Amino acid sequence: MTQMSSPFSKSVSFGEFFNPNPIMAQNNFSTHHGMVDILPEEAAKWQYLESLIRDVARSFHFEEIRTPILEQTELIARGIGALTDIVSKEMFAFSRGEDNYVLRPEGTAPVARAYIQHSLQQRGGTQNLFYIGPMFRAERPQKGRQRQFHQFGAEVLGSADPLADAEIIAFMMEVYKRIGVKNMVLKLNSVGDPESRAAYKTALQDYFRPFLSQLSEISQARFDKNPMRILDSKEPEDQHIKANAPKITDYLNEDCSNHFEKVKSHLDRLGITYILDPFLVRGLDYYTKTAFELTSSDLGGQDALGGGGRYDLLIEELGGKATPAVGFASGMERLLIVCEELGIELAKPKSVDVYIVTRGEVAQAWAMENIRTIRETGLSATMDLSGKSMKAQMKDADRKGARFAIIVGEDELQQGLVNFRVMADSTEESISFTDALAKLNT
Ligand code: HAM
Repeated sequence: MTQMSSPFSKSVSFGEFFNPNPIMAQNNFSTHHGMVDILPEEAAKWQYLESLIRDVARSFHFEEIRTPILEQTELIARGIGALTDIVSKEMFAFSRGEDNYVLRPEGTAPVARAYIQHSLQQRGGTQNLFYIGPMFRAERPQKGRQRQFHQFGAEVLGSADPLADAEIIAFMMEVYKRIGVKNMVLKLNSVGDPESRAAYKTALQDYFRPFLSQLSEISQARFDKNPMRILDSKEPEDQHIKANAPKITDYLNEDCSNHFEKVKSHLDRLGITYILDPFLVRGLDYYTKTAFELTSSDLGGQDALGGGGRYDLLIEELGGKATPAVGFASGMERLLIVCEELGIELAKPKSVDVYIVTRGEVAQAWAMENIRTIRETGLSATMDLSGKSMKAQMKDADRKGARFAIIVGEDELQQGLVNFRVMADSTEESISFTDALAKLNT
């Protein structure tokens, strides 16, 4: 698979990649640029975070949804917007036969697709869903920005009420609160609806027109089709120009304005602090009304921990019945960076309860059979699987943090005994396996 400039590029056959010439064959494999292995020490932290997120989801009563990693390219292009960076530059897309596939760059369009495909509204009420999983964007990798990254996110589908916006923001904030993340800023804005935006777009163009030649190239390219994205520019030459641009909040119609006021008052009631950022525009085209981003000064350049907003028109755009919805997604990697910066210790790899140390083949066979009994009691147990010496096995038990070792040789087994060792104080006694099991479970 390749990263292709056009989402609809032709597929490349295996034969075109595979080099049958053994002299030229590649011998040093590594992950692709921007794709990262999560090694055991790190995986323990991921498990901790994932389980905390699941706990928050449970306490908010959000149900999990898992969608495929490959989606139809057309769904993503239509859902996120053909002019966005994600769709125009960052998709991992390929085709196979008649079908166009894309590695999903985010979770909202897939969730909206699943909602329509399975008529989830028939389950009744709003659909309060969450997800955790890998997403793919062919961006230029740097700290906090990868090509395969992971998001956790939540969506409420089927409510136009500002209560749903507040619930989504509360869910997101609760995750960071439980982890103990500090120094965050929640930025809040309303990006209006198409009616409010039409008036605002004209006002923005009128404002930027006299400065057009002074704007960065990228902002000049956005002037005609999507002048709101100029507000998102990080280019130095654009900063002083955009500082005095008109604000969307002055162009909201009554419906959008009332909605925004209610979201703010719900957040105030929840004690969730935010700053109003009238220039906050998101990098995906589906947003209407509420838009928000959670940033952290501990992240450096890529400072967004998470973001989201309302997307009342997306489901209809994708062929479903008009259904208002709101959601957020946060980056797992960025959360881990912040924890590291703040010195928040998440989790160490788990140590093993019992290590069976064996001497000789008879003991190995005995251990293989009886380790099951230990595991059935709910304890974790491991043994040497590579024929190491007893000394090396004891070292391994130490390295794995074993609490107990059960040391067996053929002679002891003939007498119906094992050596039971408490690793913390190196005490050892010769007892029956049944007595050892009883000790393990006290
Ligand atoms: P997003 O702002 O594109 O929104 O992504 C959400 C979060 O994912 C970002 O704030 C960031 O933490 C993380 N993220 C994005 N790209 C990368 C990357 N290349 N490497 C590492 N982390 C990254 C969405 O995806 C929307 N679907 C959010 C949403 C849900 N809106 C409504 N519902």
